[in-house]
Amino acid sequence: DMDMTPYEHLGGEAVLKEMVTNFYGFVKQDEVLAPLFPDDLTETARKQTQFLTQFLGGPSLYTIEHGHPMLRARHMPFPITHRHAKAWLGCMEKAMDSVSLQGPLRDFIISRLTMTAYHMVNTSDDSH
Ligand code: HEM
Repeated sequence: DMDMTPYEHLGGEAVLKEMVTNFYGFVKQDEVLAPLFPDDLTETARKQTQFLTQFLGGPSLYTIEHGHPMLRARHMPFPITHRHAKAWLGCMEKAMDSVSLQGPLRDFIISRLTMTAYHMVNTSDDSH
């Protein structure tokens, strides 16, 4: 249906929550990413669910509670390299597998997240 947002196509709140929960499970197990994150990822996951809801055309949950996302600025306290961006996208691919997200919708979301992830890079490394 052409009137549906990517958020609705994905399955809305329930599927997004499950995907984000699984994503942070993979982040926790990732030796590149885990050191950057707090031990308790409950609040991180809640904010990410709010952000992805609006990123995918659903209600503006993140902005209502936290204001303009300014994602690059909010990531500046963390040294993020290409290696981190690649690892982040790898965890997201596994999270998408975990909710059986496939096909053109997956490709569309991954392409948008790839641009966003590489936009967060603020530190150079030698492992491009
Ligand atoms: C917050 C790392 C990419 C969305 C964070 C935090 C870290 C982090 C360490 C803080 C967690 C906390 O203290 O709770 C990374 C790394 C990335 C990356 C290493 C690799 C490129 C992305 C991307 C998005 C994103 C691509 C969006 C699609 C967010 C959001 C928050 C966040 C919404 C919460 C911001 C807030 O505090 O309100 N990220 N991130 N991140 N990240 Fe990322």
